[in-house]
Amino acid sequence: MASLLLSLFSALLLASTITGSEAFSTTVKKPYPGHKLEKLTHLHFYLHDIVTGDKPTSVVVATGPTTNSSATAFGIVSVIDDILTVGAEITSGEVGRAQGMFASTGQNEFSLLMVFNFVFRTGKFTGSTISLYGRNPIMSKVREMPIIGGTGAFRFGKGYAQAKTFTLNFTSRNAVIEYNVYIWH
Ligand SMILES: *[C@@H]1O[C@H](CO)[C@@H](O)[C@H](O)[C@H]1NC(C)=O
Ligand SMILES: *[C@@H]1O[C@H](CO)[C@@H](O)[C@H](O)[C@H]1NC(C)=O
Repeated sequence: MASLLLSLFSALLLASTITGSEAFSTTVKKPYPGHKLEKLTHLHFYLHDIVTGDKPTSVVVATGPTTNSSATAFGIVSVIDDILTVGAEITSGEVGRAQGMFASTGQNEFSLLMVFNFVFRTGKFTGSTISLYGRNPIMSKVREMPIIGGTGAFRFGKGYAQAKTFTLNFTSRNAVIEYNVYIWH
């Protein structure tokens, strides 16, 4: 009898310990409080990668011991704060910036690792960001890269970006890249 009471007592103690603890995780099904229907947004803009000139927005921050002798600049790392515009001309109106970095990660072919945050400065997307992470085989006509998240208007964001080289000046190495981004959020 005493041992039964004791085990009952310890069971109660255990139960109160569990209910008294803080929740580690909570999962609810849709529609959850504050839930909005998922939307698909298409963004179209041009990215200006300015490597040379008075105000470069793309700077090389590191190279590897074999980068200079590599046909693909393997090991080079650039940090960017590239201007995004609504049209192909840099004067066509800034919609935001691409802030991040890319690295040459292909030894036998041009292939960049891209880590970009797009931050928008226009309309309802002002201050909202989209995170792109992916592989960019720059010699391909269209390069597809994953959108792995977002903030603000793009919370819960997922999707993909397609990049196309619009112009590339081999002398200045400045480039204009056309981006189409499709994002569920
Ligand atoms: C690679 O070339 C650049 C520019 O010519 C030079 O500044 C740099 O020191 C070189 N790096 C190596 C590792 O030789
Ligand atoms: C390419 O860049 C060079 C050096 O900045 C410049 O002189 C030339 O006009 C540019 N070419 C085009 C087509 O913009």
